[in-house]
Amino acid sequence: ISVLSVASEAYPLVKTGGLGDVVGALPAALMPHDVNVVTLVPGYPRVIAAVQGAAALHDWPDLVGAPARLLSGTIGGHKLLVLDAPGYFAREGGPYGDPSGRDWDDNWRRFAAFGRAAADLASGAVKGFRFDVLHAHDWQSGLAPAYLRFAPAGGRCARSVMTIHNIAFQGRFDASIFGSLALPDRAFAVDGVEYYGGVGYLKAGLEAADAITTVSPTYAAEILRPEFGMGLEGLIRARRERVSGIVNGIDPAVWNPAADAALPERYDAGDLALRTINKRALEKAFALEPGDGPLFCVVSRLTWQKGMDVLADTLDALVAGGGRLALLGSGDAWLEHAFQEAAARHPGRIGVRIGYDEALSHLMQGGADAILIPSRFEPCGLTQLYGLAYGCVPVVARTGGLADTVIHANDAALDAGVATGIQFDAVTHESLAQAIALALRLFATPERWSSIQRAGMAADFSWATSGRRYADLYRELLSA
Ligand code: ADP
Ligand code: GLC
Repeated sequence: ISVLSVASEAYPLVKTGGLGDVVGALPAALMPHDVNVVTLVPGYPRVIAAVQGAAALHDWPDLVGAPARLLSGTIGGHKLLVLDAPGYFAREGGPYGDPSGRDWDDNWRRFAAFGRAAADLASGAVKGFRFDVLHAHDWQSGLAPAYLRFAPAGGRCARSVMTIHNIAFQGRFDASIFGSLALPDRAFAVDGVEYYGGVGYLKAGLEAADAITTVSPTYAAEILRPEFGMGLEGLIRARRERVSGIVNGIDPAVWNPAADAALPERYDAGDLALRTINKRALEKAFALEPGDGPLFCVVSRLTWQKGMDVLADTLDALVAGGGRLALLGSGDAWLEHAFQEAAARHPGRIGVRIGYDEALSHLMQGGADAILIPSRFEPCGLTQLYGLAYGCVPVVARTGGLADTVIHANDAALDAGVATGIQFDAVTHESLAQAIALALRLFATPERWSSIQRAGMAADFSWATSGRRYADLYRELLSA
């Protein structure tokens, strides 16, 4: 089976969050199941630099208003296609916004062009390419299945899968853009791209795709409800037999404490004491007082979704209970300030690094005792999986993929030796403080704590199972 995986991020070339990790890992995850995945990404400057000298495989003189060409390269040893459209993607800043973080005004056009190119590839309009399945990720790729259905330039209709990594980001634009999308008029309809009077890119993809997936089973159930569906719950409910939840795996080539070049000391479940060396390095990196007491960490976008406001309110309690915290993240300015203030209030106990630092994120998982993830919603979440693999015990809100991947340390689970972390229900100051208190109590009994660490490290979050599930889904679609 040949699959075109279409996404706005792919590790290691471009990543702002878990989407990049997952898209980067899919080709290797699917290869053992006889699925050949080719990844299509936009030609951001870093991506173009990585495919230097590649010959153009196809030219679009006018792709939704600007010229574009198709380049090819590799990513992690797998085939990569790049949409080189300087008018859209040759810009300083992030994949979606300018250096100050403001979304680009023409994101609708940039990602319409991206979707159009993907549909051309998947419908046979680009010579030399043939795909059985188009697999689109998140709103940036949402128009791809819609173009495939309403305007398949090459006439051949691949099957399509739309994966929701986060339904909160929907790609909603004014109805006035519709005329520029080069879709037939009938596409502006409830069963097309129309969404509350405007155009919705994720909505378009969810409506047009043959199958919908989310990145965990619990999230698939949650988005049937308005609190989580955020306006799309009706559509999800209407198409619910087409929806499945497939939990993300982690890429062992990138996240393995026994072979992680970013760690001063590598280790496995048999020699957890070696983590102390990493802990010392982590304390140093965050100017924390060294010590054997519990060290929590956070590696996160600093946003409401991640419950970071609640965490900011709970830091005094964390310190009062004897904990220390190392936090790495960036996001909302007021949260960045709140954490910096907390660090100033608790020198040596709270250390904060505002920014994005891949290597440091590995050191945190390899050196901290626990990772705090108080998300209000979490489609899957990867940092708890990295925590499990690294013996950095996850303390998580019971939602989405966090609920599916962490086994709460209640008495029964502890006695049975199956607990892998701590879960709490409501994302409030009180319940987070209680969860932290429980972590502190468990940490005080070293045998208990290390049994939780070892159970987490023994849990299997490789792609083996989930890779097979995607492969089965593709096969099902092709045989229908
Ligand atoms: P989301 O995609 O919603 O942000 P995930 O848990 O799925 O959440 O994925 C987040 C990914 O981004 C993880 O790989 C995490 O380690 C990484 N990450 C988040 N913030 C930072 C940061 N400030 N520096 C380095 N890596 C980060
Ligand atoms: C999104 C979600 C996160 C998920 C990631 C990868 O960014 O917020 O929960 O892990 O996508 O699927």
